[in-house]
Amino acid sequence: MRKMICSLRRLRGSIELPGDKSVSHRALILNAIARGEAVVENFQGGADCLATLRCLRALGVKIEWDGQGPLRIHGGGRFGLRESGDVLNAGNSATTIRLLAGLLAGQPFFSVLTGDASLRSRPMERVVDPLRAMGTRIRGRAGGTHPPLVIEGGPLRGIRYRLPVASAQVKSALSLAALYGEGETVLTEPAPSRDHTERMLRAMGVEVVGEEGGGLRISPPQRELTPLSLRVPGDISAAAFWMVAAAAHPDAEIRLIGVGVNPTRSGIIDALASMGASIALEEERMWGAEPVADIVVRSSSLRGTVIEGPLIPRLIDEIPVLAVAASLAQGETVIRQARELRVKESDRIRTTVLELRRLGASIEELPDGMIIQGVGCLQGGVCASHGDHRLAMTMAVAGLLAQGETVVRGAEAASVSYPDFWHHLEQLSSHR
Ligand code: S3P
Repeated sequence: MRKMICSLRRLRGSIELPGDKSVSHRALILNAIARGEAVVENFQGGADCLATLRCLRALGVKIEWDGQGPLRIHGGGRFGLRESGDVLNAGNSATTIRLLAGLLAGQPFFSVLTGDASLRSRPMERVVDPLRAMGTRIRGRAGGTHPPLVIEGGPLRGIRYRLPVASAQVKSALSLAALYGEGETVLTEPAPSRDHTERMLRAMGVEVVGEEGGGLRISPPQRELTPLSLRVPGDISAAAFWMVAAAAHPDAEIRLIGVGVNPTRSGIIDALASMGASIALEEERMWGAEPVADIVVRSSSLRGTVIEGPLIPRLIDEIPVLAVAASLAQGETVIRQARELRVKESDRIRTTVLELRRLGASIEELPDGMIIQGVGCLQGGVCASHGDHRLAMTMAVAGLLAQGETVVRGAEAASVSYPDFWHHLEQLSSHR
């Protein structure tokens, strides 16, 4: 599918974001192994979260959802899952395959996990190696490095493990396995990654102790997990597209309603603020274990910045769209220590550089990031998503800010995490 985007003279509007993708996956998975019923409001129905939902149904979990309203999930307890009669397909979703690998490692049955071509090319040894160390029999294509993964689950033992990269998917997979491990599991990572799993596990009655310098300590619980009903915060990774659009536009004011502002996710706010963006957080409140706010972003005069170190895991998914802001800022922006971008849904260093150049950006590839010189304005052109949802939406924002018309090929990819994205863009376009 192709979408055409034109620049707008004014950008005004208020947007309710889809539910957070990371929180939606976890609300399903953790409630699936609690005992009893939970109601999840604002569940995100993008293709990734639907993949998790289907896999859990195949594992015998009863989930009621009409595609819009509250979702009801009936957890059968820690040992309430049953062997699936078929291969579990995670589609495009690394969160699904990695978290389920951790969960299934501790189950007394056989599972096969696979995904689409993009997912089958992504690294899995980051979960396979530590899960093997916990005692599970897990094998994968290409020496255990790629899906399909075959898991013969069973009793596990706790481990002490330092993650080689800051990754919430790995940390969460191992935390799930730790619920089935004999003894304690201690995890540390190079920099703090998103902590939704820890917050939710605590709210469900599991003791998760924070370790000094980040990391956590977790033991198998003595009791069943308590179901956790919650309202999923709006996805800050989706909000980021409108934040950049408003900050870099000459005449804009956008209000984003009910956005999750968990500090392990809010790096985009800090990065844009350091570039001089006008961003205000209003009505700060808690939705269950997660902080939420309305975010108002106005036209700003942006300047270049440096994005590196512990900031990287706090905004890893927002880097492509930040490159758009950097292209329209004054001066140079350097993004480094972000090699992880190369193993996302696409190689996001390569694809961001390639596609933004098509619109006139001055952007150079580094092995672990990019250097961007602000060019003042972008020119419309034809660009592609590479089947990557965040690239599709990044290029739409670039098109909105560029002169003339922009065509985004492969625009359907946005539905992986933000099914209403194109509709919201139309709403902004018709708002005068
Ligand atoms: C996610 C963690 C991040 C992020 C992904 C979602 C999660 O990946 O990029 O979109 O829900 O845990 P890594 O764990 O690989 O950093």
